[in-house]
Amino acid sequence: MYEANYSEVSQFVLLGLSDSRAVQQFLIAFSTVFYLIIFLGNLLVVLSVTFDPHLHSPMYFLLANLSFIDFCLSTLMVPKMIFDLSSGQRTISFQGCVTQIFILHVLGGSEMVLLIAMALDRYVAICKPLHYLTIMSPRMCILLVSGAWAIGLIHSVVQLAFVVHLPFCGPNEIDSFYCDLPWFIKLSCIDTYKMEFMVTANSGFISMATFFLLIISYIFILLTVWKRSSSGLSKALSTLSAHITVVILFFGPCIFIYMWPFPTVPVDKFLAILDVLITPILNPAIYTLRNKDMKTSMRRLCSQILSL
Ligand SMILES: *[C@@H]1O[C@H](CO)[C@@H](O)[C@H](O)[C@H]1NC(C)=O
Repeated sequence: MYEANYSEVSQFVLLGLSDSRAVQQFLIAFSTVFYLIIFLGNLLVVLSVTFDPHLHSPMYFLLANLSFIDFCLSTLMVPKMIFDLSSGQRTISFQGCVTQIFILHVLGGSEMVLLIAMALDRYVAICKPLHYLTIMSPRMCILLVSGAWAIGLIHSVVQLAFVVHLPFCGPNEIDSFYCDLPWFIKLSCIDTYKMEFMVTANSGFISMATFFLLIISYIFILLTVWKRSSSGLSKALSTLSAHITVVILFFGPCIFIYMWPFPTVPVDKFLAILDVLITPILNPAIYTLRNKDMKTSMRRLCSQILSL
């Protein structure tokens, strides 16, 4: 019976962020500019770290991987959004929708684990400086990065395994500019209470737990620095407050989207903009523009590219 119904929905309609033409035009301009900055900024980070031997250290390897994930995350969502806005076409195929959800959760899960790895790296560098190179060895870096991807992959597979066979027979309008689980599940024509619980437990709980873990680890680092010398505190505070800002901006929308399965006000789609357009800019900006080595290296790279 499900099989027959299943084929009735072969595509979804993405309602997008707004029906107003003026707002849409603003979104096109805004997203295009931001996407270009994300593209160039993150590419520059990856190239600098790859080609500059001065930047061959655990912190920069992790940073380059973060930039790569941010770049993929934006590329998954923003070009399609811009295309849909400017062409007026708003459909996405069933497979396209499932693929988008799958990749989104692989990238999101990996990014969260990578942020934990970066906090660990800062912890070891600040609190155990003498053991830094032995603990954060190249092998450890590869382990952390491949662990991040593996966990992202497992998280996404587990989640999709539950929902990919849901029957769809009725409405097919998604009130957002991309496909994600909360909206996808709601369109299914069986009672999805258990599914919603599963998504909340899986994605919501992971976002929440990671968020608190990161905040606690940053507080722990600050306390350690403060105990050692109060003069180092202001420098550590300025570095870490930037990181904490990124973490709040990244996790806030995630927690809201997954922990609030029945939104009364549709703000979650606007919050998602933060994750695809704002944090991917903030990450390279915060981790690099405040960093002398990185700035020098980028300047060198740019002048090399320009003189080719
Ligand atoms: C990611 O990290 C690994 C392990 O440290 C490193 O070998 C690789 O070059 C990094 N990837 C990017 C895109 O920088």
